[in-house]
Amino acid sequence: MAGSSSAYDVIIIGAGAAGLMCAATAGYRGRRVLVLDHANKPGKKILMSGGGRCNFTNLNSTPANFLSDNPHYCISALKRYTPQDFLELVDRHGVDYEEKGPGQLFCRDSAKDILNLLLTECDWAGAEIRLKTQVREVRQTGGGYQVATSGGLLTCDSLVVASGGLSIPTMGATGFGYELAKQFGLRVLPTRAGLVPFTLQPELKQQLAPLSGVSCPVDAHCHNQHFREPMLVTHRGLSGPAMLQVSSYWHPGDDVHINLLPGRSIQDDLLALRKEKPQSTLAQYLNQHLPKRFAQAFNELHGWHGPLQACRNQDIEQIASTLGNWCIKPGGTEGYRTAEVTLGGIDTRQLSSKTMATLDRPNLFFIGEVVDVTGHLGGHNFQWAWASGVAAGNEA
Ligand code: FDA
Repeated sequence: MAGSSSAYDVIIIGAGAAGLMCAATAGYRGRRVLVLDHANKPGKKILMSGGGRCNFTNLNSTPANFLSDNPHYCISALKRYTPQDFLELVDRHGVDYEEKGPGQLFCRDSAKDILNLLLTECDWAGAEIRLKTQVREVRQTGGGYQVATSGGLLTCDSLVVASGGLSIPTMGATGFGYELAKQFGLRVLPTRAGLVPFTLQPELKQQLAPLSGVSCPVDAHCHNQHFREPMLVTHRGLSGPAMLQVSSYWHPGDDVHINLLPGRSIQDDLLALRKEKPQSTLAQYLNQHLPKRFAQAFNELHGWHGPLQACRNQDIEQIASTLGNWCIKPGGTEGYRTAEVTLGGIDTRQLSSKTMATLDRPNLFFIGEVVDVTGHLGGHNFQWAWASGVAAGNEA
């Protein structure tokens, strides 16, 4: 542990995933590191992630799993610190994990294992963590920075901003990183909530309300980005992995398209059924392929009654198109209150993709969610936190 002097080689603002990873990396290089956080505990989002079991990486992560106004920026760091690298660390610490979805690795026991791993690494690397500390002002001095905190004045050669995005303000999220970036003349791209449930217009909300809790696999798309994952109806709107993924591509006013029977040729199915069992109903077909409550409600919603033999070819075409391309216009999203991530943020065109430092100040770094790199659901966001943390930690 570092002593009581207020001069550090590296100060990192934010004891979250990216900040802790960066602290351990810089500490192992012999740098005297201090991590500051205003919260009373480090890594709160890690603890609540993945339903308490932290989806800590995704073995199939590629740059295509990230949204950014400058999509090439993340490639270098992600290449230099891969999911396998993090997995090696997980193995070294004996953390038990399991693959839930394809490539999605979760702790078998608790997200605490990942936080403990990071805190242990920081301890071994000699990095100090100071909690419940407000950062009041940051000033550039001759060769470094002066950081005025609620606990006194500190100085450092390198400053790393790892203060995260705006999602879940009750967990300590703030716009601090964006304000600091602006103070140093950096551009901050507009932010919005991502990986967030949709709210619905009043009429559809009322129609779907009885289905709260029903989930079914769908193929949902918006702006040509398709996600074949489960959708969940909630009492507020639509959620589940498919909707969370699509929400990151959605803008107010956009439609979301949902194929309720992905992988089926609905029109061919119905034409064949009409021929083989003319008395069968659409409700019977839907009951076979969708959760019962959902099938009934959808049938009611569209007023499809009577035997299939009463349907003309164009009726069947219309029904198939409604099921295969159910088009809804969300009222909005639940916003930062429940969003897993914040899209947008510090424009990466002003940062080095090798070091994460600003191009005009090689000792000022921005890492993790505060920058304009946002992953898909499934462990990609933590992979970015680890990779960007290591990249900055190797340089700061
Ligand atoms: P992070 O938000 O983790 O840390 C920022 C730190 O900065 C916090 O400790 C905060 O207190 C501190 N801070 C903020 N303002 C400050 C200020 N003014 N002064 C001092 N300190 C300040 N991702 C994934 O890959 N797999 C998953 O399973 C999940 N699950 C998940 C669930 C939920 C509910 C949420 C909200 C998010 C996820 N995520 C996720 C996303 C993931 O948690 C997120 O991408 C990372 O935590 C981002 O790491 P950072 O270190 O950048 O920010």
